[in-house]
Amino acid sequence: MQVVNTVEKLQHQISEAKKSGLKIGFVPTMGALHEGHLTLVKKAANESDIVVVSIFVNPTQFNNSKDLERYPRDLETDLEALSTVKCDYIFAPAVDEVYPEEDDRQFNFGDLETVMEGKFRPGHFNGVAQVVSRLFDMVTPDKAFFGLKDFQQLAIIRAMTKQLSMPVEIVPCDIVREKDGLAMSSRNMLLSEAQRKNAPLIARTLVESCNFVADTSVQGVKKQVEDAINADTELEVEYFEIVDGYTLQAVDNWDESNYIVGCIAVFAGEIRLIDNVTYKL
Ligand code: PAF
Repeated sequence: MQVVNTVEKLQHQISEAKKSGLKIGFVPTMGALHEGHLTLVKKAANESDIVVVSIFVNPTQFNNSKDLERYPRDLETDLEALSTVKCDYIFAPAVDEVYPEEDDRQFNFGDLETVMEGKFRPGHFNGVAQVVSRLFDMVTPDKAFFGLKDFQQLAIIRAMTKQLSMPVEIVPCDIVREKDGLAMSSRNMLLSEAQRKNAPLIARTLVESCNFVADTSVQGVKKQVEDAINADTELEVEYFEIVDGYTLQAVDNWDESNYIVGCIAVFAGEIRLIDNVTYKL
């Protein structure tokens, strides 16, 4: 495992590997690694010869400066975590290395970005597309691995690679959960004791809601989920949308699509948690 800070060094190592015909698997992260990230790295190791993990807190995807400031950063602990799995290169660049000049590209993802995270975090996905496209250019991976917790991000990244004709296979990976069901997230470590204790209600409510799909309308399930979570003193739903899993547009009834997902964002105090559940696939 080798830590690389510059694009030049990274590209040198990667071009050597490619000369030997090795396939590159890439896991982009913002650090504060947890078991969810390690699962992505393990999958990358199973499906490729060389594994590159980037650790870069991308300023352009934060629409809230407080969120950027308090985003957890601890490279030493991340390196320790990565030493427990097969990881060949850790790319940990400074901001200037990724953005030698300001990136003023404006992507257009149409309706994919006007809903849910895109609606509540304006500019977020443009920043994600900026950084992921730059990282893909730097790492030139054969495959890149992303968690399904960030369901909309995955759709945006697929759309971006298509728009830019990037020859990268995007591999989705299942959500990894704590024992009590809470979806793993770097933000979980910012929760107070009371918030952490109550946060599993989000996943529990989503799982329970699957039982109502057969005899409850889409609107009915939406209301039940929102009411159950908002009844908790530590939690407040920002949005809960039941959407077509391909277009991300809200559905009005269960027959509207063969792929239906419920996506939620919940505030626990100032900490924002997201999760989702597949109702139909
Ligand atoms: O999902 C994340 O951690 C980030 O959005 C990503 C994909 C690493 C881009 O900064």
